[in-house]
Amino acid sequence: MTARWLLPWVAGLACLVACLTATTAAAWNLAKHEPESGLLFGMWYDRLSGVTPSDIEDKLQSHHISMWQSDINITDTLQDASPFLRDVEKINTDAAIFLTVYPFEGIDAVSDGAIADLAKLLGRLTAQKLTAASGASATRRVFLRYASEMNGNWFKYGMQPTKFVEHYRRVVTAVRAAAPEVAHIWGPNSPNGYPWIGGKYAPEPGSPDFQLLDTNHNGKLDIDDDPFTPYYPGDEYVDWVGISAYHYGKQFPWVDNVVANTTELEGLMTGTGSPMVNPYNFYRMFSGDGVGGQPKSLTSGGKPFMLTETAAAYHLNFLSDGTPPFAGPGNVAVKQSWWQQYLNPDFLARYPKFKAVCSFEFKKAEELTMRDFSLTLDPAVAAAFVQDAEKMKTIHWAQPVTREASVLPDVLVASKSSAPRHSGTAERGWVAAVALTLAPMLLSAVC
Ligand SMILES: *[C@@H]1O[C@H](CO)[C@@H](O)[C@H](O)[C@H]1NC(C)=O
Ligand SMILES: *[C@@H]1O[C@H](CO)[C@@H](O)[C@H](O)[C@H]1NC(C)=O
Repeated sequence: MTARWLLPWVAGLACLVACLTATTAAAWNLAKHEPESGLLFGMWYDRLSGVTPSDIEDKLQSHHISMWQSDINITDTLQDASPFLRDVEKINTDAAIFLTVYPFEGIDAVSDGAIADLAKLLGRLTAQKLTAASGASATRRVFLRYASEMNGNWFKYGMQPTKFVEHYRRVVTAVRAAAPEVAHIWGPNSPNGYPWIGGKYAPEPGSPDFQLLDTNHNGKLDIDDDPFTPYYPGDEYVDWVGISAYHYGKQFPWVDNVVANTTELEGLMTGTGSPMVNPYNFYRMFSGDGVGGQPKSLTSGGKPFMLTETAAAYHLNFLSDGTPPFAGPGNVAVKQSWWQQYLNPDFLARYPKFKAVCSFEFKKAEELTMRDFSLTLDPAVAAAFVQDAEKMKTIHWAQPVTREASVLPDVLVASKSSAPRHSGTAERGWVAAVALTLAPMLLSAVC
């Protein structure tokens, strides 16, 4: 038996060495699914309302969204994700799957079996092969945002840094064992209003979590405390970072239809601008040089940044009596004032690690008004968005593909039970064999 299988490896290795010496170190610091440059444009669509990705793409003149987000809950069982996955499979593009998972009943309610089911589901998804018209094939890219907005006090798992960090690490470790290609997004809320005094799940004064969150040790939780660092699980558990950032109007109680100030988004990312904003510079702390955490930075920075959910709200009517608020400059102008902040080459040049946006495609009753956040419900907004997006040559739109058989039949079985899974030795053997064959080709392709 000859060692013929070694040949591509030798070639690949030689090529890798050449590559390493020829390119800058930065090119090798890309995180999972991070484009070297340019922007992924995703959407979080309102799945439970019955709308589908294909409905939305029809309204965007058939531009293919780079990634689709939806959410499921995890408790002692994992909620069935297949309605979402089926929706994305139906459009036959190579769009990434962006799964947000909420431990809605709190961290203690999440079972090991449910975490194992999540890991297994993601393993299946990331193994699905997609083939483009050119014949090139790749596996499905998957992002996981687990327990997002953990610095807010509106989720049962919120504002519990000790438990959160331990739990998040456990989930990442379990998922990596079964699905090493998943990109893990750590996604706190923007600091607008932190620490949201008086919320339902705020920590008891004097408790260990309270002391951790009182980062300047002045005995109270206030706007001068670091809204991020106490919740950071550590660089080795995080592939991407991101925040939720919205334009709601002028000021609390957020009912005014007004355009966003031109630096409003930048203010949320960097802790500058409006007095509502906390002075911590999220972008610099996690995606820049890592400086600025209190009491000390837990990151060396350089993580790709994503607006994990973002939109400008257009207030349609008051919930109390149905009357419309002042129309202001109109839906198009309000929304455009927001997307033009990130669909903006100067802005992106200032923030080179800003690599993805996920637009919140919902109409939703919140606080005092019915809010239209979407880019496609109003055809005039959709037309204006497409026009501006087409000017941005750096958006990585998804491409049409054909795919292997659906991953869903197995997924459905997996999600129905939280019993411990079999060890999957056979699967791992198969994956190893494929990896052994493909890795050298990939190496050569990269070079
Ligand atoms: C998750 O649970 C919450 C609370 O029960 C519910 O409001 C929400 O709709 C659930 N999410 C999904 C995707 O079903
Ligand atoms: C924009 O900035 C001006 C001046 O700081 C302020 O008066 C106005 O309320 C801001 N508008 C919004 C929408 O935040």
